[in-house]
Amino acid sequence: MSVLAGRRIVLGVSGGIAAYKAIEVCRRLVDLGAHVSPVLTEASRHFVGETTFSALASEPVQTSLWDEASPIPHTKLGQGADLVVVCPATARLLGTYAAGIADDLLTATLLATRAPVLVCPAMHTEMWEHPAVQDNLALLARRGVHMVPPEEGRLAGGDIGKGRLADPAVIVEAIERLFVPAELQGWKVVVSSGGTREAIDPVRFIGNRSSGKQGHAIAAEADRRGAKVTLVTTVDRPITDSIVQVRVESAEQMRQAMMTAATDADLVVMAAAVADFRPVDPAAGKIKKDQGVPQVILEPTPDILAALGALKPQGQILVGFAAETSDLRENALGKLTRKGADLIVANDVSAPQVGFEHDTNQVVILVRRPGADEVEVIDVPLDDKRRIAASVLDVAASLRSGTPATGSDRT
Ligand code: PMT
Repeated sequence: MSVLAGRRIVLGVSGGIAAYKAIEVCRRLVDLGAHVSPVLTEASRHFVGETTFSALASEPVQTSLWDEASPIPHTKLGQGADLVVVCPATARLLGTYAAGIADDLLTATLLATRAPVLVCPAMHTEMWEHPAVQDNLALLARRGVHMVPPEEGRLAGGDIGKGRLADPAVIVEAIERLFVPAELQGWKVVVSSGGTREAIDPVRFIGNRSSGKQGHAIAAEADRRGAKVTLVTTVDRPITDSIVQVRVESAEQMRQAMMTAATDADLVVMAAAVADFRPVDPAAGKIKKDQGVPQVILEPTPDILAALGALKPQGQILVGFAAETSDLRENALGKLTRKGADLIVANDVSAPQVGFEHDTNQVVILVRRPGADEVEVIDVPLDDKRRIAASVLDVAASLRSGTPATGSDRT
């Protein structure tokens, strides 16, 4: 379930060209189960229609302090909110809010609420850089107001510069982050992601189909929960700047990076698809076709998960994956024992929409709790990889807290 389910969010829209993007923010929030009350300023109505918001949001648009049916709409909105978001926040809106002036429904709601406030500024570069705007933002930050900063990009009128409203997906992610319990605060988490490449010669390699989506989702979710995250990865995928990335290519490079990063980690997750074999003697130059079909002799790669399991410091939680095409539970159970992991996340990669490259996954989590004779088994149904990541971290965190995870049985 989304962290936004049932949350009451006032979505304030002030008058800038980026107001049209607030429609997408509104739609995404409602899709995630939030109860969205849109508040439009007079100026924003020059850019977007009330009907669009009323159709998409959980309640009709409100625009005025002088609504006869509800004599004090700002206090009702402000007191009932779990969060007030202003998207886009214009220079005027930020200045009015910073000065404590309540001259319309949105600014009155901002002063009437005790809920967290998130502002998403959007304006021309010259306005964004103006000391008055920056001073107002600094003042609001000191008062605890959250901000999603604008991006560089094309602005109204065709100029290019900083001031473009952040992408709706980034804004919704920032909103979710405000509601995620910081249960991994103070944890150091190390995650591996992607498939390794084992060189045959400088241009050819043995690889696999791992996209890194699952590993990256785990890193992103751990970051959202307040952990300090290191991601050892073979792939370039977008990820938040707060995650430290270590780029590697081969199993040996991944082994070295993981062994170093894991020494003082609280939680280590091997989601990467590490090649099991590599060429013994990769060619220094490109193998030519006219040299005949090359005989590539293979040797096993180091088993990183097993090495991590053998050197696991006291209290560290070690999570492995198992990619199987048959006998899922039996094979995963064998890996749990052989590799010294606390938890194995098993996926049947022959099933539709499961495993390599897909946006979704379906897993069985096998957990060995300290002191328990039996292995706990948790079925996680098909879902997007981010929610699978959330389930894996829920179980991992429950190992530290000693609370059993929900939906488990024993084998
Ligand atoms: O990246 P995506 O496209 O999103 O796909 C996700 C995934 C299918 C790659 C992921 O869900 C997954 O299953 N990852 C593990 C893949 C794998 O290598 O499984 P395995 O059963 O071969 O290995 C078992 C465990 O040992 C894994 O944690 C693996 O990282 C680890 N291992 C394997 C070989 C090796 N030499 N060293 C290892 O550490």
